[in-house]
Amino acid sequence: MTQRLTLSRPDDWHLHLRDGAMLQGIAPESARHFARAIIMPNLLPPVVTGAEAAAYRDRILAVTGTGFTPLMTLYLTEATDPADVVAAHRDGIITAVKLYPAGATTNSASGVRDFDRVRGVLEAMAEAGIPLLCHGEVTDPEIDIFDREAVFIDRVLDPIRRATPGLRVVMEHITTTDAVNYVTAEPEGLGATITTHHLVINRNHILVGGIKPHYYCLPVAKREIHREALVKAATSGDARFFLGTDSAPHADDAKESACGCAGCFTATNTLSILAHVFEAAGALERLEGFTSRHGPAFYGLPVNAGTITLERREAPVPYPAKIETGAGPVTVFDPGFPLHWQVMPA
Ligand code: DOR
Ligand code: ZN
Repeated sequence: MTQRLTLSRPDDWHLHLRDGAMLQGIAPESARHFARAIIMPNLLPPVVTGAEAAAYRDRILAVTGTGFTPLMTLYLTEATDPADVVAAHRDGIITAVKLYPAGATTNSASGVRDFDRVRGVLEAMAEAGIPLLCHGEVTDPEIDIFDREAVFIDRVLDPIRRATPGLRVVMEHITTTDAVNYVTAEPEGLGATITTHHLVINRNHILVGGIKPHYYCLPVAKREIHREALVKAATSGDARFFLGTDSAPHADDAKESACGCAGCFTATNTLSILAHVFEAAGALERLEGFTSRHGPAFYGLPVNAGTITLERREAPVPYPAKIETGAGPVTVFDPGFPLHWQVMPA
């Protein structure tokens, strides 16, 4: 008998769609499976005002059509106007605000250097119930790249949360036991997204047997014990953890380079990979919580009405190695094992 899994239609609570020819090429990969996604604002230049977010939303909808709902975010800078943030949220243009420490990752140069300078915005967000989405890494050159998330919790995140009671926070793309433990210790107001790729790779996958640029992302994958902690959190049924793929396309020439960009492109095969990971953990019945229920609960949104069905095949399920776009080919994340769960056409 065919094994079949039907889930409420999933959402992606952390997604990079880019713009122009790249947006055109890769947005359908997400819209095919996901009903909604939180859209990252790290364009060049970044999306910093409500008006820019509305214009970007319309460019996305022009590609995906209305069957997909982009949930827009603003890129927090030291010049962000609290009134603009509150008005954009009140008018239904934005769902959240993204904090990039300046220099932490792709297109983060306009991010925050001095966290005291965004205190007024954070207070207005707490008051209006607007979530803050954190790229949780310090940028201090003294701090080893593998320690940057843990240090961010102590030096930046915890002080912000203590100074701004009521601020709802999502730690994005967590990669460490430190982050899992920090989130688990908080009864409310704090959630975390976990990516597909961080459930699959550890730092050996990037570096052993030759450098693998398509496994390089930020935060960088850590030791195996951390990956195991992420799998445990994702498959636990704990509603504080939900899917944010951080699917982040770069054209192959920008990845396969002497100074390669950070980002794994997982939109195409994320659901097949997740079904594999949850099945291996004996937690298939918890997949729907992770992909479709915990995120809406955190954001105070309804669970999607539609469903998506996956079927388990004996033979490996094929998927394209690359997505061809007008901005160049984009390599699809290779989990390193055959996939057997196939998303059925709607
Ligand atoms: O790997 C990443 N890629 N991490 C980020 O934080 C940004 C993203 C991108 O925009 O390419
Ligand atoms: Zn991201």
